[in-house]
Amino acid sequence: MTQEQSVSHKIVIVNGPNLGRLGVREPEIYGNATLQTLREDCTEWGRKLGWDVEVRQSDDEAEVIHWMHQAVDERTPVVLNPAAFTHYSYGLADAAAQVTDADLPLVEVHISNPASRETFRRHSVISPIATGTITGMGFYGYKLAIEAIAELTDAKN
Ligand code: DQA
Repeated sequence: MTQEQSVSHKIVIVNGPNLGRLGVREPEIYGNATLQTLREDCTEWGRKLGWDVEVRQSDDEAEVIHWMHQAVDERTPVVLNPAAFTHYSYGLADAAAQVTDADLPLVEVHISNPASRETFRRHSVISPIATGTITGMGFYGYKLAIEAIAELTDAKN
């Protein structure tokens, strides 16, 4: 494997709009824990597997798209909770496709199970290009995603 193709031992976890409101927003759906708790949990789960994990959140579509471009350029695997962008952002879908086209894993995560909620949540424009999708497992879904990336990457190298 050439230097250009190698994958950095870092995972970027990108959360889309309104996920900065975790703990306050619809706790019956998303739970009581905050984004800061998610950040601490993910960092710890990554550390145990020998991976640096960075958790980001933005309400701004352009910023989330930019983070996909950055992941491609830095060859960093991605865990993406696109939040509401899941259901309509072709811009983000195109950006996420560049990650998987570059042969980097991109795992789509949803805290809730969108398929069991309103009709508009049943369609994801991200799922067709994601390496895989984990839904309905709360924060534990991010742990599964980190483990999957570690496993898939180590199996390749
Ligand atoms: C979500 C599900 C989306 O439908 C919703 O817009 C979100 C969060 C989830 O994590 O369950 O903001 O992605």
